[in-house]
Amino acid sequence: MPDTAPAIPKTYRVKSFGCQMNVYDGDRMAELLAEQGITPAPEGEDADLVVLNTCHIREKAAEKVYSDIGRLRREDGSSPLIAVAGCVAQAEGEEIMARAPAVKMVVGPQAYHRLPAMVKAASEGRRTTDTDMPAETKFDALPKRRRAGPTAFLTVQEGCDKFCTYCVVPYTRGAEISRPHADLIDEAKRLVDAGAREITLLGQNVNAWTGENARGQTLGLDGLIRELAEIPDLARIRYTTSHPNDMTPGLIEAHGSIAKLMPFLHLPVQAGSDRVLKAMNRAHHVEKYLRILEEVRQARPDIALSGDFIVGFPGETEAEFAETLALVDAVGYAQCFSFKYSPRPGTPAATMGDQIPAAVMDERLKRLQDALNRDQLAFNTASVGKTCEVLVERKGKHPGQWLGKSPWLQSVHFTGDVAVGDVVRVALTSAGPNSLGAALIAPVAA
Ligand code: 5AD
Ligand code: SF4
Repeated sequence: MPDTAPAIPKTYRVKSFGCQMNVYDGDRMAELLAEQGITPAPEGEDADLVVLNTCHIREKAAEKVYSDIGRLRREDGSSPLIAVAGCVAQAEGEEIMARAPAVKMVVGPQAYHRLPAMVKAASEGRRTTDTDMPAETKFDALPKRRRAGPTAFLTVQEGCDKFCTYCVVPYTRGAEISRPHADLIDEAKRLVDAGAREITLLGQNVNAWTGENARGQTLGLDGLIRELAEIPDLARIRYTTSHPNDMTPGLIEAHGSIAKLMPFLHLPVQAGSDRVLKAMNRAHHVEKYLRILEEVRQARPDIALSGDFIVGFPGETEAEFAETLALVDAVGYAQCFSFKYSPRPGTPAATMGDQIPAAVMDERLKRLQDALNRDQLAFNTASVGKTCEVLVERKGKHPGQWLGKSPWLQSVHFTGDVAVGDVVRVALTSAGPNSLGAALIAPVAA
């Protein structure tokens, strides 16, 4: 099989799957490659080097990677230089190397700062795997940020020590680490200088972030947000994903007192039954979750709530699933993610008895999604008639149309004389399940 690739790649493409942290990592890998003089492949053209930045959180992750690798094969039988990165690389790197000769590099989420050396080796015909979790952090080795759109991600915390029994993240991303405060302030300022008006702070357990500021004070995420809010041209701050057990009183209070912190909270609960939560090792009850939401609503009455749900965890009964539906009814979410339970290799839940049949999971997922869709539409419909600020993110499909986000993370479309990065005031005039229509009122002074 011909397997020719240019000696030194001139163009690259990074394809990221899965969570927002992968989007962040994908951007950072792109910056690293650009620093080597490799340029992004033009839209629609083959790249010399393709990075598949993979996700392992749910089923068929590895199969998807193999089919993506197959699809990269060109008509003449050659392939670009392929790097498999992300959580599938971490979990199944050796097997990928053995099964897919077209893959020249396998690099885990904590080692991708070493990608340039791996590309050099690949261009000399050597295949390398690096799934280390090195003591030195990749963040110190990455180039400074120079590019940003109106919205940017900033990884502040990574890894997870919670070990929910269904989840691969503690194994693929490693132990919890918080990036140092000074580095984050510096990266945030660079992003804002490069044009970001909104920063979303990322972490698998973002609200477990802790650090020390220049005055030697120990801060939690609320303290970090408070300091970031001082950056003059930064208009909006968001954070995701949080764990209920790390929702401190300070962070809850921050939702009431920091104007730049947007009224949106993504707080996964996964299930509405205490027995299931215990089997998932979530380490909290439903009642505590509801109490936190109540406190957040007291601090910020218009907060939009979001969450993640898993249906069909091993042993979940119909009555326990009904408790999930009851929880959804009680909360009234603005939007949510919901998934069928997927046994992940190496996790405790994968070997639990009483795995739920696929048909039962399908049926439960449908009922849950019907309820969540109903609530999402109700939330959007209730927004009609309000005025709010929108951060303009990009042009829409129709001439003169613009797309942006409301404070509550709804997509909003409208027409008018604005530019990407503007924060404008609009009146919300119509609602659908996934977006709102609006009329422009006026730009908002920066
Ligand atoms: N099966 C299904 N969903 C899962 N998630 C994590 N692990 C699994 C799994 N094994 C979901 C959880 C988590 C989100 C990121 O993905 O809801 O919050
Ligand atoms: Fe996975 Fe649970 Fe950690 Fe979230 S808190 S990353 S679900 S182990």
